Amino acid sequence: MNEHDSERMKGMLESLGYGEADGPDAADLLLFNTCSIREKADTKFVTHLRQAAARKRQRPGVVIGVGGCWAQSVKDQVFADFPFVDVAFGPGQVHKLAEFLTSDAITAQGYFEFEGFTGHLPAKRERAFSGWMQISVGCDMVCSYCIVPSTRGRQVSRPADELLAEAEGLVSDGVREITLLGQNVNAYGRDQGSRAAAGMTFAELLGALDGIEGLDRIRYTSPHPQDFKDDVVRAHAELPSLCPHLHLPLQSGSSTVLKAMRRTYNRERFMDRVALIREHCPDIAITTDIIVGFPGETDADFAETMEVCDEVGFDGAFTFVYSPRRETEAAAMADRFVDRETSGERIAQLVELVQRRAAERAQRFVGRTLDVMVEGPSRTDPSRLRGRTGHNKAVNFDGLASPGEIVPVQITAASSHSLSGELSLLDRAGAAAG
Ligand code: 5AD
Ligand code: SF4
Repeated sequence: MNEHDSERMKGMLESLGYGEADGPDAADLLLFNTCSIREKADTKFVTHLRQAAARKRQRPGVVIGVGGCWAQSVKDQVFADFPFVDVAFGPGQVHKLAEFLTSDAITAQGYFEFEGFTGHLPAKRERAFSGWMQISVGCDMVCSYCIVPSTRGRQVSRPADELLAEAEGLVSDGVREITLLGQNVNAYGRDQGSRAAAGMTFAELLGALDGIEGLDRIRYTSPHPQDFKDDVVRAHAELPSLCPHLHLPLQSGSSTVLKAMRRTYNRERFMDRVALIREHCPDIAITTDIIVGFPGETDADFAETMEVCDEVGFDGAFTFVYSPRRETEAAAMADRFVDRETSGERIAQLVELVQRRAAERAQRFVGRTLDVMVEGPSRTDPSRLRGRTGHNKAVNFDGLASPGEIVPVQITAASSHSLSGELSLLDRAGAAAG
């Protein structure tokens, strides 16, 4: 979501006549889009902000802007603590940046209402053929570790007809792959506290998008295990353009910890969701997010997380050490914090298991020919190409093809993170003929 918002900020600035500077010393505007999900992002950012302040001392005309979740979370003290900041805004008022830059404002301004969708702003896409689409903002869940509900507010969904028009616009602009974004995509259209005006459920939205000619790949992130139900499973089984990849955040394998996290499902329910999707889509790739060291997590709780990971065999996982966030429920459980050393040992064990299982799972691709969307040259060997399968696996391969093309690649090797292969000339000729 943060990357999406950055693209929209760039697009908005471009429409105001701004262009990308050669470097921070040449810039008239130093704009930061911040994340606040874990503490590390915060501390790194404050270092960048101090560097920006030093630049401003040398060139006082430089405007310093800070947007995003960190700005929102420190809205009451940002100008007192960082007096060199000219404009600050939360994720709900990105559009106000344009107002600030085009006005003659001489005093610092802050904009922190939950007012609009960044998805309404013009985009400057990182890749010509892939686009994000923000289907909702905010979150109505209350996970006890999470800062998002306070930085992005209550869930508000965008109307389906607006999203379909946007998708058609993206496709006519050359986009072949769209990733739908929301904190809890399955709750699309079910906004609490406001009359949902979406006009479709999430599964219906997927179906309608699948009908758009030229839209070859649909992805989405993230569903919540509580709301992940039969209709979306059916969509995976039936819709040709819906990618065979599900990112289903587990967070913990222990029902006790899940309860303290206020995740609203237990270990059995999660396993049941995995069984359901695998029954209908046996080849689907399943990835997840896991937090270790949540306050009160015992060795036995952690052992349950390891068991679930072993049983499921995720195709990949983002693993995090619990990080206390301001004004969240879990941050007040300081007497139960897990010490750093224990968390460090646990995450090392978890990463080892996740990678081993991901590497094992990836072997199923060896010998198969998969459709790969070309991204550009391989990062490790520029004489090869890099692309992505529908399962969201990165592939490095030999052959000639242009970015944005979807080509058949014969897979010859697989590791936990990527696949290796070669362009299948036979299949490609067949596809061209057929
Ligand atoms: N500490 C550690 N990880 C967190 N996440 C969210 N909040 C925290 C936190 N306070 C992780 C969750 C979520 C992912 C985006 O970030 O796993 O799914
Ligand atoms: Fe945070 Fe939970 Fe909402 Fe995800 S579902 S954004 S973890 S509160």
